[in-house]
Amino acid sequence: MTDILTLERTLLGAIAAAADEAALEAVRVSALGKKGSVSELLKTLGSMTPEERREKGPLINGLRDRVNAAIAARKAELEEAALAARLAAERVDVTLPLQEGPQTRGRIHPISQVIDELTAIFADMGFSIAEGPDIETDFYNFTALNFPPGHPAREMHDTFFLPPDEKGERKVLRTHTSPVQIRTMLGQKPPIRVITPGRTYRCDSDQTHTPMFHQVEGLVIDKSSHIGHLKWILEEFCKAFFEVDQVKMRFRPSFFPFTEPSAEVDIQCSRKGGEIRFGEGDDWLEILGCGMVHPNVLRNCGLDPDEYQGFAWGMGIDRIAMLKYGMPDLRPFFEADVRWLSHYGFRPLDLPTLAGGLSA
Ligand code: DAH
Repeated sequence: MTDILTLERTLLGAIAAAADEAALEAVRVSALGKKGSVSELLKTLGSMTPEERREKGPLINGLRDRVNAAIAARKAELEEAALAARLAAERVDVTLPLQEGPQTRGRIHPISQVIDELTAIFADMGFSIAEGPDIETDFYNFTALNFPPGHPAREMHDTFFLPPDEKGERKVLRTHTSPVQIRTMLGQKPPIRVITPGRTYRCDSDQTHTPMFHQVEGLVIDKSSHIGHLKWILEEFCKAFFEVDQVKMRFRPSFFPFTEPSAEVDIQCSRKGGEIRFGEGDDWLEILGCGMVHPNVLRNCGLDPDEYQGFAWGMGIDRIAMLKYGMPDLRPFFEADVRWLSHYGFRPLDLPTLAGGLSA
């Protein structure tokens, strides 16, 4: 009798002390398993006399029932505690901002974006892309473009010269993308319709000039293209690029050695409140130079000016990027400051297309 009571106290103590479900299971096996202490007691009932069994039977069965009940209760308690602990540990604060992965944090530089935009626009008009080297010879950068040796127009370009080579020739960092016109005309037969975006260099630095900058040249050569086509192309480009329905342009007579006649083009804008807007206002802003390709340039490329004619233009990419996206200073474009890039840069998957929107 006292044995049964002692065993019960011991078992109930062990059940209460079981810290987790594994410990509880060990107690259960030690009591109710095949060789468990309670099971052994139950086995003794078979060899008892009927009187003994009548007396001990209820005690031993009672012990088994209470141990079973205590185990079930402790099990429920442990399960509830485990669930509560898990809920506390795995709690998610849904108000926390999402952590962006590197793919979504990366940004496209505004220059790359604008080159993609203008490529989309001119590709739609049937232009292809032509390229040339950044390090040019004097011939491609000047002479073939009808800058005679010693001509003062050469001085206007603030050229970076490389040290003379073994033949005494001084290569230059190209001062404009116009040498690619020469390379294109020498390399392919008209009809020609190309744009040539690329890096250009001049010894100059202030808020709107950097020693390295970008231009896009356009060149159309065939037997009949004239200045009316040039005006239309430039107007369509400006409307598409600046995403406005109307844009007024002004062609001012100018001089470039490689075009005749030559013009500089201004677009109408308003500067109210320090903000530049296109398609309205009564101010003008210069954005490009253009003209009909000079007969000497055609001749320098082996084309007969009595048969072929065409036009060209050159535009500052950095300039139109600053205008379109409201960036007041050119210098940070090339400082590789990730804070500037994450502010002004573009999302990698927002590819500019005419159908899907250029900058939307
Ligand atoms: N190359 C000129 C510059 O850098 C820009 C230019 C003007 C290009 C007239 C042209 C053009 O093709 O026709 O100042």
